Amino acid sequence: MKPIILDVDTGIDDTMAIAYAAHSPELQLLGLTTLFGNVSVDEATRNTLYVLEQLGLEHVPVYAGAGKPFSGQNVKSYAKHVHGEDGLGGALGDALPKGRAGSLTAAQFMIEQVRSMPGQVTIIAVGPMTNLALAVQLDAEFVKLVDQVVIMGGAVTVPGNVTPFAEANIYSDPEAAQFVFQSGLPITMVGLDVTMQTLLPCARLEEWRKKGGKLSELLAGATEFYMNAYETWSPGIGGCALHDPLAVGVVIDPSFCRTEAMHIEVDVDGAEIGRTFSVPHDPSGSAQPNLKVCLEVDAARFLEHFMSRVV
Ligand code: BDR
Ligand code: CA
Repeated sequence: MKPIILDVDTGIDDTMAIAYAAHSPELQLLGLTTLFGNVSVDEATRNTLYVLEQLGLEHVPVYAGAGKPFSGQNVKSYAKHVHGEDGLGGALGDALPKGRAGSLTAAQFMIEQVRSMPGQVTIIAVGPMTNLALAVQLDAEFVKLVDQVVIMGGAVTVPGNVTPFAEANIYSDPEAAQFVFQSGLPITMVGLDVTMQTLLPCARLEEWRKKGGKLSELLAGATEFYMNAYETWSPGIGGCALHDPLAVGVVIDPSFCRTEAMHIEVDVDGAEIGRTFSVPHDPSGSAQPNLKVCLEVDAARFLEHFMSRVV
């Protein structure tokens, strides 16, 4: 079993990713860390605790992290038009989780875990890169102690989803992404290049509805909202992208994606803020590969794997 920390801004596809990870025997969930992104950090923490309770995993600890970008600037915007006012497409209703977040910050928890299991912990980051950046900044040894980091974020060969250039997680905190990418952390990037090919078709929601139970209802209700947002954004698309679940999938089975080593930089202050772009390899210069970028995905195989486990 691979020990993992899932760093989330829960969010509807984050919810799917949590359920998928929780139901995957290859993974040991050490804890979840939260931050701003789709919703505020307080809402992401509340939603994460709630989702864990629906999964019967109230013993898995949750630690709250960044409420704003690494630069200290204010949050640009949340993604409530995509994830709903509550971040769960209205599926939260009046419910509140019983549990609370632990006393460490997200970055402190990441550091504590990688120090207690050097070279073993995988971090799956499916929100902005802020908690990772804070961990790298706090502990000079952190980058050497992590086994691997798999992020959902960025777009190298395809357009962005929040601007024509930028993917949402990177756009929310480009400085954090640039800092993390240049830090020496062993990172695999699961970006829009592959996640926009892994669509969950609308018709598959029926499978969850037929199963019944609280988790299925939560997932089906939230995902229907998410699919409607996709339909508004891209009429005729017929489903929603499985962004965050694919990052979990790549940790379970790296053969879902073909990767290429590249040198990736982030536009932090230019005309295309949040854009992730590759700099040609320069054997004698500084543009050494810093990320493994997922460029192709076996979408059909991944979808069936995801569906066989998520509920
Ligand atoms: C990413 O942005 C968020 O809205 C999703 O949860 C996902 O992590 C997709 O661009
Ligand atoms: Ca997310």
